[in-house]
Amino acid sequence: MNKPQLVWLDKGKETFLDLNQYDFVPVEKYGPGDNKLYLGDNLVLLKYLLENKQKVDLIYIDPPFATNSRFFLKRSIGEAGYNHKKGVFKFPCYEDIWQEGLGSYLSMLYERLKYMHQILRESGSIYVHVDFRVSAYVRLLLDEIFGEENFINEIIWFYKTGGVPEKIGFSKKHDTIFFYARDKKKTYWSPQKEKSYLKHKYGFSNISIEEDEQGKYTWVYCRDVFDIPALRGNQPERLEYATQKPEELLKRIILASSKPKDVVADFFCGSGTTLAVAQKLERKWIGCDCGKWPIHVCRKRLLGIEKSNFSLLKIVKKQEKKAGLVKENNSKITDFCSKKDQKTGQNCPQVLTLVSFFEKNDFFLEEKKIFLQTKMDCLKPDKKLKKA
Ligand SMILES: C[S@@+](CC[C@H](N)C(=O)[O-])C[C@H]1O[C@@H](n2cnc3c(N)ncnc32)[C@H](O)[C@@H]1O
Repeated sequence: MNKPQLVWLDKGKETFLDLNQYDFVPVEKYGPGDNKLYLGDNLVLLKYLLENKQKVDLIYIDPPFATNSRFFLKRSIGEAGYNHKKGVFKFPCYEDIWQEGLGSYLSMLYERLKYMHQILRESGSIYVHVDFRVSAYVRLLLDEIFGEENFINEIIWFYKTGGVPEKIGFSKKHDTIFFYARDKKKTYWSPQKEKSYLKHKYGFSNISIEEDEQGKYTWVYCRDVFDIPALRGNQPERLEYATQKPEELLKRIILASSKPKDVVADFFCGSGTTLAVAQKLERKWIGCDCGKWPIHVCRKRLLGIEKSNFSLLKIVKKQEKKAGLVKENNSKITDFCSKKDQKTGQNCPQVLTLVSFFEKNDFFLEEKKIFLQTKMDCLKPDKKLKKA
Protein backbone atom coordinates (compact mmCIF):
# COMPACT_ATOMS: atom_id res chain seq x y z
CA MET A 1 0.00 0.00 0.00
CA ASN A 2 1.16 3.52 -0.75
CA LYS A 3 1.22 5.04 2.74
CA PRO A 4 2.82 8.46 3.18
CA GLN A 5 5.39 8.56 6.00
CA LEU A 6 7.37 11.29 7.64
CA VAL A 7 11.09 11.22 6.89
CA TRP A 8 13.93 13.24 8.42
CA LEU A 9 17.67 12.93 8.65
CA ASP A 10 18.67 10.31 11.23
CA LYS A 11 15.16 8.89 11.45
CA GLY A 12 15.32 5.48 13.09
CA LYS A 13 18.81 6.00 14.50
CA GLU A 14 18.51 4.48 17.95
CA THR A 15 20.25 5.67 21.10
CA PHE A 16 22.70 3.03 22.29
CA LEU A 17 21.44 1.94 25.68
CA ASP A 18 22.82 -0.92 27.75
CA LEU A 19 20.56 -1.43 30.75
CA ASN A 20 23.38 -3.20 32.61
CA GLN A 21 24.98 0.19 32.91
CA TYR A 22 22.08 1.58 34.93
CA ASP A 23 20.83 1.23 38.47
CA PHE A 24 17.36 2.04 39.73
CA VAL A 25 18.26 3.35 43.15
CA PRO A 26 15.43 3.42 45.73
CA VAL A 27 15.25 6.81 47.45
CA GLU A 28 12.04 6.67 49.49
CA LYS A 29 9.01 4.43 49.94
CA TYR A 30 5.63 5.53 51.21
CA GLY A 31 3.14 2.84 52.16
CA PRO A 32 2.51 -0.47 50.45
CA GLY A 33 1.78 -0.83 46.75
CA ASP A 34 3.60 -0.79 43.44
CA ASN A 35 3.27 2.81 42.28
CA LYS A 36 6.61 4.17 41.16
CA LEU A 37 7.98 7.64 40.54
CA TYR A 38 11.28 7.69 38.65
CA LEU A 39 13.77 10.52 38.42
CA GLY A 40 15.72 10.06 35.21
CA ASP A 41 15.54 9.75 31.46
CA ASN A 42 12.34 7.99 30.41
CA LEU A 43 14.16 6.20 27.59
CA VAL A 44 16.02 4.07 30.13
CA LEU A 45 12.82 3.38 32.03
CA LEU A 46 10.89 2.45 28.88
CA LYS A 47 13.56 0.00 27.81
CA TYR A 48 13.61 -1.44 31.34
CA LEU A 49 9.82 -1.89 31.38
CA LEU A 50 9.90 -3.56 27.99
CA GLU A 51 12.70 -5.96 28.89
CA ASN A 52 10.94 -6.84 32.15
CA LYS A 53 7.68 -7.47 30.27
CA GLN A 54 5.81 -4.86 32.30
CA LYS A 55 2.59 -3.69 30.71
CA VAL A 56 0.49 -0.59 31.23
CA ASP A 57 -3.18 0.10 30.44
CA LEU A 58 -3.15 3.80 29.71
CA ILE A 59 -0.41 6.27 28.75
CA TYR A 60 -0.85 10.02 28.79
CA ILE A 61 2.15 12.12 27.81
CA ASP A 62 2.61 15.85 27.63
CA PRO A 63 6.15 16.00 26.27
CA PRO A 64 8.06 19.16 25.33
CA PHE A 65 6.46 20.77 22.23
CA ALA A 66 9.62 22.22 20.62
CA THR A 67 8.68 25.63 21.99
CA ASN A 68 12.24 26.94 21.96
CA SER A 69 11.80 28.00 25.60
CA ARG A 70 13.13 27.28 29.07
CA PHE A 71 10.67 26.40 31.82
CA PHE A 72 10.90 27.18 35.50
CA LEU A 73 9.40 26.39 38.85
CA LYS A 74 8.69 29.59 40.81
CA ARG A 75 9.11 29.78 44.56
CA SER A 76 8.83 32.79 46.84
CA ILE A 77 11.74 33.37 49.16
CA GLY A 78 11.70 35.76 52.10
CA GLU A 79 8.93 38.13 53.12
CA ALA A 80 8.52 39.79 49.75
CA GLY A 81 6.49 36.85 48.47
CA TYR A 82 5.23 36.31 44.98
CA ASN A 83 4.48 39.94 44.26
CA HIS A 84 8.03 41.13 44.37
CA LYS A 85 10.35 39.94 41.69
CA LYS A 86 13.36 39.88 44.00
CA GLY A 87 11.55 37.54 46.34
CA VAL A 88 10.89 34.92 43.68
CA PHE A 89 13.36 32.25 42.75
CA LYS A 90 12.95 30.61 39.40
CA PHE A 91 14.33 27.08 39.43
CA PRO A 92 15.23 25.85 35.97
CA CYS A 93 13.22 22.72 35.21
CA TYR A 94 13.69 21.89 31.58
CA GLU A 95 14.79 23.26 28.27
CA ASP A 96 12.65 22.68 25.23
CA ILE A 97 15.29 23.88 22.77
CA TRP A 98 16.41 21.72 19.85
CA GLN A 99 19.70 23.12 18.57
CA GLU A 100 19.80 20.58 15.77
CA GLY A 101 16.31 21.41 14.59
CA LEU A 102 12.98 19.69 14.56
CA GLY A 103 14.55 16.42 13.37
CA SER A 104 16.27 15.93 16.71
CA TYR A 105 12.97 16.59 18.52
CA LEU A 106 11.20 14.05 16.34
CA SER A 107 13.97 11.49 16.89
CA MET A 108 13.58 11.91 20.66
CA LEU A 109 9.83 11.35 20.51
CA TYR A 110 9.82 8.64 17.83
CA GLU A 111 12.15 6.38 19.77
CA ARG A 112 10.13 6.74 22.95
CA LEU A 113 6.74 6.31 21.27
CA LYS A 114 7.93 3.02 19.78
CA TYR A 115 8.69 1.72 23.28
CA MET A 116 5.35 3.02 24.59
CA HIS A 117 3.56 1.14 21.82
CA GLN A 118 5.24 -2.07 22.91
CA ILE A 119 4.49 -1.77 26.61
CA LEU A 120 0.79 -0.97 26.14
CA ARG A 121 -1.60 -3.82 26.86
CA GLU A 122 -3.81 -4.92 23.96
CA SER A 123 -6.80 -3.22 25.56
CA GLY A 124 -4.73 -0.11 26.27
CA SER A 125 -4.62 3.36 24.76
CA ILE A 126 -2.35 6.39 24.55
CA TYR A 127 -3.02 10.13 24.66
CA VAL A 128 -0.26 12.39 23.29
CA HIS A 129 -0.62 16.06 24.19
CA VAL A 130 1.07 18.57 21.87
CA ASP A 131 0.32 21.91 20.21
CA PHE A 132 0.38 23.61 16.80
CA ARG A 133 4.16 23.58 16.64
CA VAL A 134 4.49 19.83 16.25
CA SER A 135 0.99 18.36 15.99
CA ALA A 136 1.13 17.72 12.22
CA TYR A 137 4.37 15.75 12.57
CA VAL A 138 3.33 13.86 15.69
CA ARG A 139 0.09 12.73 14.02
CA LEU A 140 2.14 11.09 11.28
CA LEU A 141 4.48 9.45 13.79
CA LEU A 142 1.52 8.03 15.66
CA ASP A 143 -0.11 6.77 12.46
CA GLU A 144 3.12 5.02 11.59
CA ILE A 145 3.72 3.46 15.02
CA PHE A 146 0.17 2.69 16.19
CA GLY A 147 -1.46 2.34 12.75
CA GLU A 148 -3.99 4.68 11.19
CA GLU A 149 -6.63 2.08 11.93
CA ASN A 150 -6.03 2.63 15.66
CA PHE A 151 -6.53 6.38 15.54
CA ILE A 152 -9.50 7.31 17.72
CA ASN A 153 -9.64 11.08 18.24
CA GLU A 154 -7.87 14.33 17.70
CA ILE A 155 -8.99 16.11 20.86
CA ILE A 156 -8.90 19.89 20.95
CA TRP A 157 -8.43 21.27 24.43
CA PHE A 158 -9.29 24.97 24.25
CA TYR A 159 -8.88 27.47 27.01
CA LYS A 160 -9.14 31.16 27.76
CA THR A 161 -5.89 32.62 28.99
CA GLY A 162 -4.58 36.18 28.78
CA GLY A 163 -1.44 37.22 26.96
CA VAL A 164 -0.38 39.56 24.19
CA PRO A 165 -2.26 39.48 20.89
CA GLU A 166 -0.63 37.87 17.86
CA LYS A 167 0.97 40.37 15.45
CA ILE A 168 -0.98 38.67 12.68
CA GLY A 169 -3.61 36.03 13.17
CA PHE A 170 -5.98 34.74 15.78
CA SER A 171 -4.93 34.05 19.37
CA LYS A 172 -3.62 30.53 19.79
CA LYS A 173 -5.75 29.08 22.55
CA HIS A 174 -5.84 25.35 22.08
CA ASP A 175 -3.70 22.24 22.41
CA THR A 176 -4.14 18.98 20.52
CA ILE A 177 -4.33 15.59 22.21
CA PHE A 178 -4.06 12.56 19.94
CA PHE A 179 -5.86 9.48 21.19
CA TYR A 180 -4.83 6.09 19.76
CA ALA A 181 -5.67 2.55 20.76
CA ARG A 182 -3.13 -0.24 20.91
CA ASP A 183 -5.79 -2.29 19.13
CA LYS A 184 -9.02 -0.48 18.36
CA LYS A 185 -11.03 -3.71 18.37
CA LYS A 186 -10.01 -4.55 21.92
CA THR A 187 -9.57 -1.16 23.53
CA TYR A 188 -11.26 -0.31 26.85
CA TRP A 189 -13.70 2.61 26.64
CA SER A 190 -16.04 4.07 29.21
CA PRO A 191 -18.14 6.90 27.68
CA GLN A 192 -18.17 10.10 29.72
CA LYS A 193 -20.83 12.79 29.83
CA GLU A 194 -20.64 16.56 30.19
CA LYS A 195 -23.09 19.39 30.71
CA SER A 196 -24.31 21.15 27.59
CA TYR A 197 -25.86 24.53 28.38
CA LEU A 198 -28.94 25.44 26.42
CA LYS A 199 -29.08 28.67 24.43
CA HIS A 200 -32.88 28.38 24.13
CA LYS A 201 -35.41 26.17 25.87
CA TYR A 202 -37.52 24.94 22.94
CA GLY A 203 -37.51 21.62 21.11
CA PHE A 204 -36.34 19.38 23.96
CA SER A 205 -39.51 17.55 24.87
CA ASN A 206 -37.98 14.09 25.44
CA ILE A 207 -34.80 14.89 27.36
CA SER A 208 -34.35 15.88 30.94
CA ILE A 209 -33.26 19.47 31.51
CA GLU A 210 -31.39 20.40 34.68
CA GLU A 211 -30.32 23.77 36.00
CA ASP A 212 -27.40 25.19 37.95
CA GLU A 213 -26.00 28.67 38.62
CA GLN A 214 -24.88 28.93 34.95
CA GLY A 215 -28.29 28.11 33.53
CA LYS A 216 -30.23 25.22 32.03
CA TYR A 217 -28.36 22.24 30.67
CA THR A 218 -28.65 18.64 29.47
CA TRP A 219 -26.11 15.81 29.83
CA VAL A 220 -24.44 14.86 26.52
CA TYR A 221 -21.59 12.51 25.61
CA CYS A 222 -18.25 14.32 25.80
CA ARG A 223 -17.20 15.80 22.48
CA ASP A 224 -13.68 15.78 21.07
CA VAL A 225 -13.51 19.49 21.92
CA PHE A 226 -12.70 19.85 25.61
CA ASP A 227 -13.87 23.09 27.17
CA ILE A 228 -11.82 22.87 30.37
CA PRO A 229 -10.34 25.99 31.98
CA ALA A 230 -6.55 26.25 32.12
CA LEU A 231 -5.02 26.79 35.56
CA ARG A 232 -5.01 30.43 36.52
CA GLY A 233 -3.99 32.86 39.26
CA ASN A 234 -4.04 31.53 42.76
CA GLN A 235 -6.15 28.41 42.19
CA PRO A 236 -5.20 25.99 45.02
CA GLU A 237 -4.40 23.28 42.45
CA ARG A 238 -1.71 25.46 40.89
CA LEU A 239 1.84 24.59 41.91
CA GLU A 240 3.66 27.27 39.91
CA TYR A 241 5.07 24.60 37.61
CA ALA A 242 5.18 26.34 34.25
CA THR A 243 3.52 23.69 32.10
CA GLN A 244 1.18 22.16 34.68
CA LYS A 245 -2.11 20.88 33.21
CA PRO A 246 -5.49 20.94 35.01
CA GLU A 247 -6.60 17.84 36.88
CA GLU A 248 -10.03 18.03 35.24
CA LEU A 249 -8.44 17.30 31.86
CA LEU A 250 -6.70 14.19 33.16
CA LYS A 251 -9.80 13.11 35.05
CA ARG A 252 -11.80 12.95 31.84
CA ILE A 253 -9.09 10.95 30.07
CA ILE A 254 -8.42 8.53 32.92
CA LEU A 255 -12.13 7.86 33.56
CA ALA A 256 -12.78 7.25 29.87
CA SER A 257 -9.83 4.96 29.20
CA SER A 258 -9.11 3.01 32.39
CA LYS A 259 -10.72 1.12 35.25
CA PRO A 260 -9.77 1.18 38.95
CA LYS A 261 -6.54 -0.81 39.55
CA ASP A 262 -5.43 -0.36 35.90
CA VAL A 263 -1.90 0.96 35.46
CA VAL A 264 -1.72 4.55 34.21
CA ALA A 265 1.68 5.84 33.07
CA ASP A 266 3.04 9.30 32.38
CA PHE A 267 6.65 9.31 31.19
CA PHE A 268 6.92 13.13 31.08
CA CYS A 269 5.07 13.64 34.36
CA GLY A 270 6.22 17.18 35.29
CA SER A 271 4.34 18.31 38.38
CA GLY A 272 2.50 14.96 38.46
CA THR A 273 -1.01 15.89 37.31
CA THR A 274 -1.64 12.46 35.75
CA LEU A 275 -0.30 10.62 38.78
CA ALA A 276 -2.28 12.70 41.26
CA VAL A 277 -5.53 12.08 39.37
CA ALA A 278 -4.72 8.38 38.90
CA GLN A 279 -4.09 8.11 42.65
CA LYS A 280 -7.39 9.83 43.50
CA LEU A 281 -9.28 7.57 41.08
CA GLU A 282 -7.67 4.46 42.58
CA ARG A 283 -5.62 3.52 39.55
CA LYS A 284 -2.09 2.23 39.86
CA TRP A 285 0.52 4.46 38.28
CA ILE A 286 4.07 4.88 36.97
CA GLY A 287 5.59 8.35 36.61
CA CYS A 288 8.91 9.59 35.29
CA ASP A 289 10.61 12.93 34.83
CA CYS A 290 14.24 13.76 34.23
CA GLY A 291 14.11 17.00 36.24
CA LYS A 292 14.85 17.21 39.93
CA TRP A 293 12.47 20.14 40.47
CA PRO A 294 9.45 18.61 38.76
CA ILE A 295 10.04 15.43 40.75
CA HIS A 296 10.28 17.47 43.93
CA VAL A 297 6.92 19.15 43.19
CA CYS A 298 5.36 15.88 42.12
CA ARG A 299 6.52 13.97 45.19
CA LYS A 300 5.15 16.62 47.49
CA ARG A 301 1.87 16.78 45.61
CA LEU A 302 1.42 13.00 45.85
CA LEU A 303 2.25 12.98 49.55
CA GLY A 304 -0.63 15.40 50.06
CA ILE A 305 -3.18 12.90 48.70
CA GLU A 306 -4.94 10.64 51.14
CA LYS A 307 -3.79 7.00 51.05
CA SER A 308 -1.16 7.79 48.44
CA ASN A 309 1.58 5.20 48.29
CA PHE A 310 4.62 5.05 46.08
CA SER A 311 8.33 4.44 45.80
CA LEU A 312 10.66 7.09 44.50
CA LEU A 313 13.62 5.78 42.49
CA LYS A 314 16.53 7.46 40.81
CA ILE A 315 17.84 6.15 37.50
CA VAL A 316 21.62 6.43 37.63
CA LYS A 317 24.49 5.30 35.46
CA LYS A 318 26.61 2.80 37.39
CA GLN A 319 29.95 4.33 36.42
CA GLU A 320 28.86 7.73 37.68
CA LYS A 321 27.73 6.17 40.92
CA LYS A 322 31.07 4.45 41.45
CA ALA A 323 33.00 7.62 40.80
CA GLY A 324 30.75 9.54 43.23
CA LEU A 325 29.39 11.62 40.40
CA VAL A 326 25.72 11.00 41.01
CA LYS A 327 24.67 14.59 40.91
CA GLU A 328 22.09 16.46 38.90
CA ASN A 329 23.36 18.97 36.43
CA ASN A 330 23.22 21.96 38.73
CA SER A 331 24.95 24.32 36.37
CA LYS A 332 21.78 26.36 35.98
CA ILE A 333 21.53 26.85 39.71
CA THR A 334 24.81 28.68 39.58
CA ASP A 335 22.95 31.35 37.60
CA PHE A 336 21.56 32.41 40.93
CA CYS A 337 25.04 33.13 42.13
CA SER A 338 25.07 36.12 39.85
CA LYS A 339 22.46 37.77 42.06
CA LYS A 340 24.02 40.73 43.84
CA ASP A 341 23.59 41.88 47.40
CA GLN A 342 21.68 45.15 47.04
CA LYS A 343 23.75 46.97 49.67
CA THR A 344 27.26 45.92 48.80
CA GLY A 345 26.87 45.08 45.12
CA GLN A 346 28.81 41.89 45.87
CA ASN A 347 27.74 38.38 45.13
CA CYS A 348 25.23 37.36 47.71
CA PRO A 349 26.73 34.83 50.17
CA GLN A 350 23.31 33.53 51.20
CA VAL A 351 22.66 32.54 47.63
CA LEU A 352 25.77 30.42 47.73
CA THR A 353 24.50 28.83 50.94
CA LEU A 354 21.28 28.07 49.14
CA VAL A 355 23.09 26.56 46.19
CA SER A 356 25.16 24.26 48.35
CA PHE A 357 22.04 23.33 50.28
CA PHE A 358 20.29 22.25 47.10
CA GLU A 359 23.29 20.31 45.96
CA LYS A 360 23.20 18.28 49.17
CA ASN A 361 19.44 17.82 49.41
CA ASP A 362 17.70 16.39 46.44
CA PHE A 363 14.30 16.46 48.05
CA PHE A 364 13.91 19.13 50.62
CA LEU A 365 10.92 19.53 52.87
CA GLU A 366 8.78 22.53 53.66
CA GLU A 367 10.44 22.94 57.09
CA LYS A 368 13.78 23.24 55.41
CA LYS A 369 12.42 26.01 53.24
CA ILE A 370 11.64 28.00 56.40
CA PHE A 371 15.28 27.59 57.32
CA LEU A 372 16.19 28.98 53.94
CA GLN A 373 13.86 31.90 54.22
CA THR A 374 15.62 33.07 57.34
CA LYS A 375 18.87 32.86 55.42
CA MET A 376 17.66 34.90 52.51
CA ASP A 377 17.59 38.38 54.03
CA CYS A 378 19.72 39.75 51.27
CA LEU A 379 16.98 39.08 48.76
CA LYS A 380 14.42 41.17 50.59
CA PRO A 381 13.73 44.48 48.84
CA ASP A 382 15.96 47.23 50.18
CA LYS A 383 13.56 49.99 51.23
CA LYS A 384 16.18 52.74 51.08
CA LEU A 385 17.22 51.81 47.57
CA LYS A 386 13.61 51.60 46.51
CA LYS A 387 12.89 55.16 47.73
CA ALA A 388 15.89 56.58 45.95
C1 LIG B 1 5.18 19.76 29.50
S1 LIG B 1 5.99 19.11 30.91
C2 LIG B 1 4.80 18.04 31.63
C3 LIG B 1 3.83 18.78 32.50
C4 LIG B 1 2.83 17.87 33.19
N1 LIG B 1 1.84 17.35 32.28
C5 LIG B 1 2.13 18.59 34.33
O1 LIG B 1 0.87 18.65 34.36
O2 LIG B 1 2.82 19.12 35.21
C6 LIG B 1 7.16 18.03 30.20
C7 LIG B 1 8.07 17.35 31.20
O3 LIG B 1 8.84 16.38 30.52
C8 LIG B 1 10.08 16.27 31.20
N2 LIG B 1 11.02 15.59 30.28
C9 LIG B 1 11.54 16.06 29.13
N3 LIG B 1 12.35 15.14 28.57
C10 LIG B 1 12.32 14.04 29.39
C11 LIG B 1 12.96 12.77 29.35
N4 LIG B 1 13.76 12.43 28.35
N5 LIG B 1 12.72 11.91 30.37
C12 LIG B 1 11.87 12.24 31.38
N6 LIG B 1 11.25 13.45 31.46
C13 LIG B 1 11.46 14.33 30.48
C14 LIG B 1 10.44 17.69 31.57
O4 LIG B 1 11.34 17.73 32.66
C15 LIG B 1 9.06 18.27 31.90
O5 LIG B 1 8.82 18.25 33.29
